[in-house]
Amino acid sequence: MTAIVFGSINMDLVAKTPRLPLPGETLLGYAFFQAPGGKGANQAVALARLGIPTYMVGRVGADSFGKELLKSLQASGVRTENVFVDETVSSGVAAIAVDQKGENQIIVIPGANGRVNDDDVERLLSLLPQASVLLLQLEIPISAVIAAARAATATQVRVILDPAPVQSHLPDELYPLIDIITPNELEASQLVGFCVHDVQSAKKAAVQLRQRGVKNAIVKLGAQGVVCATPSETLFVPAFSTEAVDTVAAGDAFNGGLTAAVLEGLSLEQALLWGAAAGAVAVTKAGAQPSLPDRSTFDEFLRQRQNS
Ligand code: RIB
Repeated sequence: MTAIVFGSINMDLVAKTPRLPLPGETLLGYAFFQAPGGKGANQAVALARLGIPTYMVGRVGADSFGKELLKSLQASGVRTENVFVDETVSSGVAAIAVDQKGENQIIVIPGANGRVNDDDVERLLSLLPQASVLLLQLEIPISAVIAAARAATATQVRVILDPAPVQSHLPDELYPLIDIITPNELEASQLVGFCVHDVQSAKKAAVQLRQRGVKNAIVKLGAQGVVCATPSETLFVPAFSTEAVDTVAAGDAFNGGLTAAVLEGLSLEQALLWGAAAGAVAVTKAGAQPSLPDRSTFDEFLRQRQNS
């Protein structure tokens, strides 16, 4: 039950602010920290901490951030021998503002992630025979995402796509290659062209994504929960209530929890619950990778919430 994550690896530079800035505004923040992130790397760490053998494929720069990012992946048990250290470019960074409610705004400068190309797809191909699932996001070039999804589908490896950062038009050829797509409400709105803000609109969006060829479409509604359209039914799982400190990587934690459950052979409904639980734990801690739960924290959270 091995997972491969093909995607971005960033250093997050995080400013804590009383509220998120308006366009043109200069705002005084009250704290700053740096932590390993990147949607791809976060999902790999989320999976590995839950006990899933996980390979990361991607790129970092030959700089101090790159070294730290590799160390963070390895410390969580992620296999990094297929992360290429690119000497020609700096590592990816994300400038992040987090307000007092835990909401965030993120600007990603791709750096090495933007150089991911066919050579990296080749490295990925060598891992596919031992993998059950491939996790993708959209912080590396779309051509590489499509090539990876094609190769995975051809070898019966399931593809889970987090369409973030969203592109209003995803190539039509990508949808039928996806086993599970996991947009949040903003991403779903841009993909389907109408406002997704509640369970009803999320169900409509999920059904529409399925009509484009995706097998299962999940829409993450943050504090409201998640909706999922499958070939046979539409499911809704409410969110766990938590005190949000920082929502950065909550979506990545969700994808890690969801995928871990799928790999452990649980039903899709149970997988939605695992995703929601991993996301709920992640929002209680600051930073992307520092907030992702290990297996015992995750199991304890689920046990407590299911008994309450
Ligand atoms: O999903 C959160 C992540 O988005 C951050 O860690 C940041 O690096 C961006 O990729």
